[in-house]
Amino acid sequence: MKKEKVKILGIESSCDETAVSIVEVSSSDKGKILSNIVFSQIDQHSPFGGVVPEIASRSHVESLSPLIDQALNDATLKIQDIDGVAATSGPGLIGGLIVGLTTAKGIAVGLDIPLIGVNHLEGHALTPILTNDIYPPYILLLVSGGHTQLIMVKDIGQYIQIGTTIDDAAGEAFDKAAKFLDIGYPGGPALEKIAKKGNNKKYKFPRPLQNSNDCNFSFSGLKTSLIREAKNIEPIDEKTISDLAASYQQAIIDCIKIKSEKAINKMLAQNNTSEIKYFVASGGVASNKAIRDNLTLLAQKHKMRFIAPPMKFCTDNAAMIAWVGGLRLLRGQSDELDTPARARWPLEEMKIHEVLNG
Ligand code: KG4
Ligand code: ZN
Repeated sequence: MKKEKVKILGIESSCDETAVSIVEVSSSDKGKILSNIVFSQIDQHSPFGGVVPEIASRSHVESLSPLIDQALNDATLKIQDIDGVAATSGPGLIGGLIVGLTTAKGIAVGLDIPLIGVNHLEGHALTPILTNDIYPPYILLLVSGGHTQLIMVKDIGQYIQIGTTIDDAAGEAFDKAAKFLDIGYPGGPALEKIAKKGNNKKYKFPRPLQNSNDCNFSFSGLKTSLIREAKNIEPIDEKTISDLAASYQQAIIDCIKIKSEKAINKMLAQNNTSEIKYFVASGGVASNKAIRDNLTLLAQKHKMRFIAPPMKFCTDNAAMIAWVGGLRLLRGQSDELDTPARARWPLEEMKIHEVLNG
């Protein structure tokens, strides 16, 4: 008999957060988060100014079992109450992915329940349905540490890529600049904080690809021009650093705005305009308040609503993994025990129908 509701244990270990969550997903595509734990490894990586893969894998091994116990405890459930186990199987750091996926496989075998290997990007892409009670179609800006993409989410499992970065991701642009300016780790929140005190018009940074007709991004030149500009300034005091950070953040925001608007115009021209009601941002960088404020105005201009998940569901978490696992399980989809961990797994390889270029 087909179940109306399933309780899914989700595991996320693709980068520097070990996260476990239990979500109850219903066949009407509604979800209830029963527990949600994120253990951040920031303290272990910050002395190195970035994520060290070996440290990350070891830390996932150490934390995962106690976090699973805690997630069950928080949800007042026993492991036998779980209907399926979902783990991020890619993309991400391969060591961490193997730790999470292998743990999930052990639970699936031990309890004889289905295993669902989840694409991390699909987790970010479908989070707003769980947290903001909206439903596709929507235009999605997926901005994280490893990805920057504009995607038309036509339905659950139907994604059309509208644009992507041709080099660095937006989160990388934040992280590398913060490392160069030596303002703290992780870079995104650190740079956002310092930028608040600065003048965003003080330095002129480029807006790469702004005149190209496509919806693609490029951030690596922007980082190079920051380094070049900063090297010309002696000495660099605190005020200069805030002005550099503010001007640099503004350049990233402008690039995001310009390409998001191109994507909106393209999608509205191709679709029934009244169908697309939402412009959605998801992924770690979408927790940036200045980016949210700018995108809110952009969406309003096009008579759309701007939606972004609450901050803690923008950055990496396991609720989004359990959620996608539940949606897939209720559609009769699960994975074999030999499903692999994949360092690279573009969302286009899910069920994307077509990739739009130009
Ligand atoms: O989605 P996420 O937690 O992990 C990945 O899947 O990559 O995103 C992490 C990225 C990092 O690059 C981090 O610096 C960035 O999101 N980030 C931010 C902010 N908070 C996190 N970037 C800009 N402003 C923020 N407030
Ligand atoms: Zn992520």
